[in-house]
Amino acid sequence: MNTDSLFRPFNLKTLNTKNRIVMAPMTRSFSPDGVPTADVAEYYAKRADAEVGLILSEGTVIDRPSASADPNIPHFYGEKALAGWHKVINDVQEKNGQMGPQIWHQGISANHASGWLPSAPFEGPSSFNSPGFENGVAMTDSAIADTIAAFGQAAADAKALGFDTVEIHGAHQYLIDQFFWDATNNRSDIYGGKTLAERTRFAVEVIKEVRKRVGEDFALIIRLSQFKPAAYDYKLAKNEAEMEQWLTPMADAGIDIFHCSQRRFWEPEFDGSDLNFAGWAKKITGKATISVGSVGLDGDFFGAFAGQSSQPSSLDELVRRMDRGDFDLIAVGRVLLSDPQWVEKIKNNHLDQLKGFSKEALAELV
Ligand SMILES: Cc1cc2nc3c(=O)[nH]c(=O)nc-3n(C[C@H](O)[C@H](O)[C@H](O)COP(=O)(O)O)c2cc1C
Repeated sequence: MNTDSLFRPFNLKTLNTKNRIVMAPMTRSFSPDGVPTADVAEYYAKRADAEVGLILSEGTVIDRPSASADPNIPHFYGEKALAGWHKVINDVQEKNGQMGPQIWHQGISANHASGWLPSAPFEGPSSFNSPGFENGVAMTDSAIADTIAAFGQAAADAKALGFDTVEIHGAHQYLIDQFFWDATNNRSDIYGGKTLAERTRFAVEVIKEVRKRVGEDFALIIRLSQFKPAAYDYKLAKNEAEMEQWLTPMADAGIDIFHCSQRRFWEPEFDGSDLNFAGWAKKITGKATISVGSVGLDGDFFGAFAGQSSQPSSLDELVRRMDRGDFDLIAVGRVLLSDPQWVEKIKNNHLDQLKGFSKEALAELV
């Protein structure tokens, strides 16, 4: 198989990646008290050293009292955590890698299994995490303003530390996505509304603030998902027109790259075309896009959370879509947890040596 299309460089503002393969953001919970350790730096540097073009960090939380629901998720604020991240980016760049943190607010969350709770109640557009599940408070105007400012500060800190990009986590039913979703956003102020376009206002304000803090020349990514972990088959945008109303304001506010989260990258987004989410996002906005979802594996990532392993699968369909120009970059998640050398093996045509994903990989930083 000819995988050349995966190994073309990609250039956009501060991004100059050596190939099209991105490490997907994956929460690891190996940062006690929110501080990334030397092991975390080694884990990312190992992927950079093995040809991963762009690394997106695990979700790392902004400076809000209840942005995190897990004491071992890294912070992106405070002297100690930022020093930990400084080591991460230095080590990655020493291996000729590029990296951006995925900045995150978890919104209304479930309580951590250990019983640990943040110092303030969880906050979101409403008190709901999903229909029927309330676990926090609806944000006031000042909470919203402070949260927007905290996203901006995190992005400014990322740039100051030397990161090559920033990804705003707007997917998977966390804070920003809770604003998008009418099941969790029942506000009657300017951040709510009947249409998806109206409920995109919070994201747009976050993006504008981040853009203001990092300047025009810094590559800015947002991750979005149509699905919700509480509703796998849900689509925020039901058709092309709704997707346009959703994405265009974010493109206009300063997004350079849409990272379109799917469980399986080959699944069409709408009837009548085989384009996937990233394909439509690129077509509609003209912006660069990242696709993702079960690349190189025969099972999806919800299976991983249910304790399932996955076997290697063919890259033909990925290459077909890349060659066709559907999307610019492809993110790879679980396979890079089990097999840090996955990209290098493909580059060197050692396809017979590719590993699948084993659930044991979740338990340690390999
Ligand atoms: C252990 C684990 C942790 C994850 N954590 C995050 C996260 O912090 N942020 C995020 O946007 N997605 C997260 N995801 C989703 C992945 O980024 C990716 O979209 C998903 O695993 C599908 O890609 P894959 O099939 O190649 O694994 C996580 C997935 C896994 C398996």
